This record gives sequence, structure tokens and C-alpha cells, in this order.
Amino acid sequence: MGPSGVGTSVPAPAGERRRDAVIRTEQLQKRYPGAEAPAVDHLDLEVFAGEIFGLLGPNGAGKTTTAGMLTTRVVPSGGRAEIGGVDVARHPALAKQLSGIVSQQNTLDRQLNVWENLYFHGRLFGMGSRRSRHRADELLQQFQLARWAKASVYALSGGMAQRLMVARAIFHEPAVLFLDEPTAGLDPQSRLVLWELLGELNAQGQTILLTTHYMEEADQLCGRVAIMDHGHLLALDTPAALKQSIGADTVLTLKAAGDAAELREKMAAALDGVTASRTVEGGAQLQLRGIERLVPRAVAAAEALGVDLIDLSVSEPSLETVFINLTGKELRD
Ligand SMILES: Nc1ncnc2c1ncn2[C@@H]1O[C@H](COP(=O)(O)OP(=O)(O)OP(=O)(O)O)[C@@H](O)[C@H]1O
Ligand SMILES: [Mg+2]
Repeated sequence: MGPSGVGTSVPAPAGERRRDAVIRTEQLQKRYPGAEAPAVDHLDLEVFAGEIFGLLGPNGAGKTTTAGMLTTRVVPSGGRAEIGGVDVARHPALAKQLSGIVSQQNTLDRQLNVWENLYFHGRLFGMGSRRSRHRADELLQQFQLARWAKASVYALSGGMAQRLMVARAIFHEPAVLFLDEPTAGLDPQSRLVLWELLGELNAQGQTILLTTHYMEEADQLCGRVAIMDHGHLLALDTPAALKQSIGADTVLTLKAAGDAAELREKMAAALDGVTASRTVEGGAQLQLRGIERLVPRAVAAAEALGVDLIDLSVSEPSLETVFINLTGKELRD
């Protein structure tokens, strides 16, 4: 159900990697003054030209801090970060020129109208007046904002404001477009529109790094995903490979009256192919191999054990499942 052209980037062959890395971090670290633990801890990352790369993690994982160091807003405490081969700490102005940034907040200039928000961005980035004019017109067309050109940014819906921020971020043709939680707070329709738009930009060759705590977003949009928690990189691969890595192909959720821990233990022992299990609210969740006749098998097992089943559902493993297996907790609160 993903927009066409989305999620098609694949890892470059091993031999090609060093040449094509647009972002490279080595042991990158950030410890905020007074903080007990680093916000980002010895992070090694490579993002290749043409990728949509996702940093997926819960609140406080270090996603914004990572993006902040790459875009020169946050000063690293250790390690190195390069964008387009430029060391961000040594040449911040140059690194900034190579980055397009859509931050977690609405950063549109409220003193300026929609068109001016783009035009002056170009001027600020050293583009000539004629080229900035032309590009502002062109991008407003492409992003379906042309009829709002003269409007105040107050008049824009959340989705339109987000599109304008993306247009502004790519205005100076950056090597990497950074988006921090681009769809947080957007309604489902605006989220789909934005996914589609990012897919189109990527199809035109734009390298994109986005942070998100929505597993569906990482799954549908990103060619590769880095899972982060507490400043650490826990896993990095394509969504398909990450899901495959858990070794189960089915997730069975059982709700029943009585003790959840007991339910989990009994059902995990009674069913074949269980690779992992945990308690959830009102029941248990089992990861298994083999979906064949799973529902009748589960119902029969429950009956034999005298379990009073209230509900039963079967799903495929998701990036949430991967995250749970890595950390023992859920991605969402
Ligand atoms: N300016 C700051 N000063 C001190 N601590 C900070 C600062 N910014 C972030 N932190 C801390 O660093 C850690 C990582 O925060 P960061 O904002 O990078 O996480 P995040 O993954 O972007 O989270 P969220 O999903 O909430 O946006 C958190 O523990 C946070 O409290
Ligand atoms: Mg953040």
C-alpha cells in the first residue's frame, strides 16, 4: 500500500560503499553538559547517495541529536561526522550548504508570505535574485502551493506548512534532505501526501535522512533503517531484513481471563514453533514459525488447557516486533 517508487533503495554492494557515502559518522558522540549518559554514543553510520534512510527510535533515543550534529546545530563531544565528504565540525558553513533541514518545529518565517519564505531562503544561501524567483515559482507549483503564494503562512494547514518547509529545505539543492519526525502531528491524509512527495523527491535522486518513531513510516518509506535507543545503534538494515532477523514469521496475540504470565507460559509450551513470548495487557503475545492452521491449533490448545479465550489475533512481524526483541519494551508508549 506504499506510494509507488517508495522504499526501493537497496544497500550498495560492499565494494561500492566508501565511494557513495553521502553521510558518514565515526564514533560520533554527544554528551550534553550535566547529563549522566551520552545522548548519542559512539555512532557509526553510513548513508548512501539516493537512499531514504530512517533513524527509528522512541522518545529520547538520540535521533534529533544525531540529525543536529550532522546539520551543525549540535556540537559533537567526540568522533567525526561528514556530509558529502565535508567534516561538519571543521567546515560548518560548507556542511550547512550541503544540508536541507526540516526540523521538528514549524520554523516558517511568520513575517513573510509563502512565496517569500522560499525566495529569501535562496537569497540567504547565496542564490541570485532571478534564480531564487524562478525556483520559488517552480517549487510552489511542484508542491501544489502556487495558489497560496501570497498568503500568510498562518493560513496554511499543518500539511501545507510541512510541504512548504520541505520545499524550502530542498531550495538550494542540498546533498541530503534531513527531516526530523516529518509526520508527527499530521493527520493521516497529510501524512500520505507527504510520503508520496518524499518518494517523488527520492525518485528524482534526492538523498533523504529522516527520523521517526512511527514504525510504519520507517517500514514503508525507508530503504534502510537504523534502530536507536538510549543513544545506541541497535540494528541497521532494510526493513525486510530486520523483520526477517527475528526468526519468526507470525505474531499471535491472545487475550484471556486470568493471569497473563501463566497464559504466556502455558500457551508457549503448548504450541509448536514458538521463538519468543511476552505478556501484554490482558494476555500474551507469541512469536512463531509456521502459520499453518495456527488459529485452530491455538484454540484447541487453549481449550485443552482450560484457558478462557476472549480474543485472538494473528499478524506479521513488524519493526515494532524487532524493537521489542532488541529492547524488551515497546516503541510506542
Ligand atoms: N539541549 C539539550 N540539553 C540537554 N539534554 C538534551 C538536549 N537535547 C536533548 N537532550 C537529551 O538527550 C537525549 C536525546 O534526546 P533527542 O532529542 O536527541 O532524542 P529524540 O530521539 O529526538 O527524541 P524525541 O522522539 O523525543 O524527539 C534525551 O535524553 C534528551 O533529554
Ligand atoms: Mg527528536
